[in-house]
Amino acid sequence: MPIRSYKGITPKLAEGVYVDESSILVGDITIGAHSSIWPLVAARGDVNRMIIGNYTNIQDGTILHVTRKSSGNPDGHPLIIGDDVTVGHHCMLHGCKLGNRILVGMGAIIMDGAVIEDDVFIGAGALVPPNKTLNSGYLYVGQPCKQARPLNDGERAFLKQSAENYVLLKDEYLEEMAKQ
Ligand SMILES: CC(C)(COP(=O)(O)OP(=O)(O)OC[C@H]1O[C@@H](n2cnc3c(N)ncnc32)[C@H](O)[C@@H]1OP(=O)(O)O)[C@@H](O)C(=O)NCCC(=O)NCCS
Repeated sequence: MPIRSYKGITPKLAEGVYVDESSILVGDITIGAHSSIWPLVAARGDVNRMIIGNYTNIQDGTILHVTRKSSGNPDGHPLIIGDDVTVGHHCMLHGCKLGNRILVGMGAIIMDGAVIEDDVFIGAGALVPPNKTLNSGYLYVGQPCKQARPLNDGERAFLKQSAENYVLLKDEYLEEMAKQ
């Protein structure tokens, strides 16, 4: 498994988690039940902690990191991701907090101290600047991102459905792994 200890802390995985063998997880990382980490994800919980909730997927090529504690910022910036979150391909999530049922579009960048409330859709390629809060129930797009419009019912439902699709997919990958 591509899991490395750092300063005596080893990533902790709950039941049913899939971690692709080409990804790398280092240090203080906790991953909740039935979440999945796809190829070439790099997650470094070295200078602060990282928590990923249940039924969340982190897709290919995404980078996850944290910011260390300092005198001006005693907690630093941990990375906290909630339940039923889809993080699309090639995103960068750094020291931010995400709630539940969020879709982070491909290639999005979310910076330190940003807070993404529950039920938010972030368009592909969006840039979420430091310390910005994205409000629940909206689509955000652009660099820097702006509130585009409220989510419709189909999009709200899709946030959860996307996470569920990835739970089914990771179960298939776990079955394939068991055969090898
Ligand atoms: C933003 C998004 C949800 C589309 O929203 P929409 O309201 O249906 O947007 P439309 O396709 O009708 O386009 C409306 C306008 O937004 C623009 N637009 C679409 N996606 C955009 C994006 N990601 N960033 C900036 N502008 C975008 C369109 O070009 C169009 O501009 P125009 O009015 O000047 O022609 C979609 O394009 C997107 O980014 N989805 C993310 C998909 C993804 O990454 N999934 C994860 C994969 S695993």
